Parts: sequence; C-alpha cells; structure tokens
Amino acid sequence: MAETKFDERHLPDASDYAAVVERFIPGRQAIFAIVEASLLEILTEGPAKILVVGAGGGEEILRLGAENPLWSFVGVDTSEPMVEMARRRIAGTPLAARATVHSTAIDKLEDNGFDAATCILTAHFVPDDGSKLGFLSAIHGRLKPGAPLTIVDGVEGNGEAQTELLRRIWTRHAIRNGVAKDAAETNARNFKNVAVVSVEREEELLRAAGFTDIVPIFRGLAIKGWLAFA
Ligand SMILES: C[S@@+](CC[C@H](N)C(=O)[O-])C[C@H]1O[C@@H](n2cnc3c(N)ncnc32)[C@H](O)[C@@H]1O
Repeated sequence: MAETKFDERHLPDASDYAAVVERFIPGRQAIFAIVEASLLEILTEGPAKILVVGAGGGEEILRLGAENPLWSFVGVDTSEPMVEMARRRIAGTPLAARATVHSTAIDKLEDNGFDAATCILTAHFVPDDGSKLGFLSAIHGRLKPGAPLTIVDGVEGNGEAQTELLRRIWTRHAIRNGVAKDAAETNARNFKNVAVVSVEREEELLRAAGFTDIVPIFRGLAIKGWLAFA
C-alpha cells in the first residue's frame, strides 16, 4: 500500500488548513463549488445522508454543510491526525450536530443507505493492486441504488513528458500562490509517490465497482473529477 504521510508534525494548524491546502491544489475552490452544485442538482430538496470518504481535515463537511442544513455527513478516514483535525474544525460549528467522522477504512464502516458520497483527493492513495477496486466497491455498496458519487483524484499525464510538464506547472502554480520554492518542489515530487492511474483506468475501475453514467466534472492540471452513479 502506498504510504500516506498525514503525520501530525507535517500538518498545518486546523485554523490554517483550508488556506494552506488551497495554495497547493489547482482549482481547489472550484472543486468544492462544482461538487456542491452537482449534489444540489441531483439530490432532492429533503434531508440527505452523505458519505465522505477521506474526510480528514473536515473540509468537505464544512463546505458542503454550510449552506445545506438538511444534509448530514458521515466521514471516514484512515489517518488519526487527519480525523482529529476534522473533529477539531467541526466542533463548535453548526455542523457538529449533523456530522460524525470515524477513524476507519471504508470497508469497515458499519453504515449504509447513503444518498450520496464524496471522495476528494483520497482514492489516489489507494494502489491499483485490487485495493482501489475494493475501495470503490466499498463506497458503491454503501450507496442507495442510483445515488451519486463525486470523486476527484490526481491522474497520470499522457506519457512521461506530459506528466513532467504538468509537475513543473504544478510547482510554479504553487509558488505563485505564495508557497516557498522548496515546499512546492517537494509537494510536486511527492505526487510521484501517489498511486495515480490514467483517466481511462480510473473510469474502468469505477465501472468495475458498479458505477454507471460517469461524467467528467473537473480538470485542473493533473487533478480530475467525475460524477458517477451507483
Ligand atoms: C489529501 S487529503 C484530502 C482530505 C480531504 N478530502 C480534503 O480534500 O481536504 C487525503 C485524505 O485521504 C485519507 N486517506 C488516504 N488513504 C485512505 C483510505 N484508504 N481510506 C480512507 N482515507 C484515506 C488521508 O488520511 C487524508 O486524510
């Protein structure tokens, strides 16, 4: 399994989390705006129970919950420091009453019947050795039939030269957002260690997990997002 370094020593303070991460990820504001608009378009206006896979940090719960008081959230994440950060950021907000974050893998979550799921910048940590298919299948199995999943992941470029160019643009983009050069270069280099797959392979895995009607909804450098239905 690819190592995911979400070690407390390297995490920003809970109060800085959103601002710090936004400097690195191209189009991060747009990702959340598009995910929210997608769910608003598909979900009925009543209450909805939303599964957040990779909920560490708490960002999607805070953003999606802010203006949708009838949405409740169950988050899962395998990193205890990231779960703790999510809990700290959610505590004391109106979301505290309708969000729970579990420190667990998705296949161990004893809950199902979700109206929707999100999986943002998380599935790309799961290696394509059967684990990524198992991970996506575990999400599928917890959704109501026809329920939407919004998934956003790093993807491979079309060949090594394109991947390398995207990496250099990624670094420059972060520097222009105020990230120190070393930190930007390290972040771009770390992307090599993430278990990204090609766009075609990600879509194949989504279909193999049972998802249908896969619609691309976002692309920013090496980050791509889809809407898919259980
Ligand atoms: C880059 S962070 C993104 C967090 C959040 N979705 C966001 O966009 O702010 C990736 C998260 O995925 C979690 N993660 C990695 N592998 C996971 C897995 N197999 N199951 C659940 N969470 C996982 C990490 O612990 C981390 O919190």
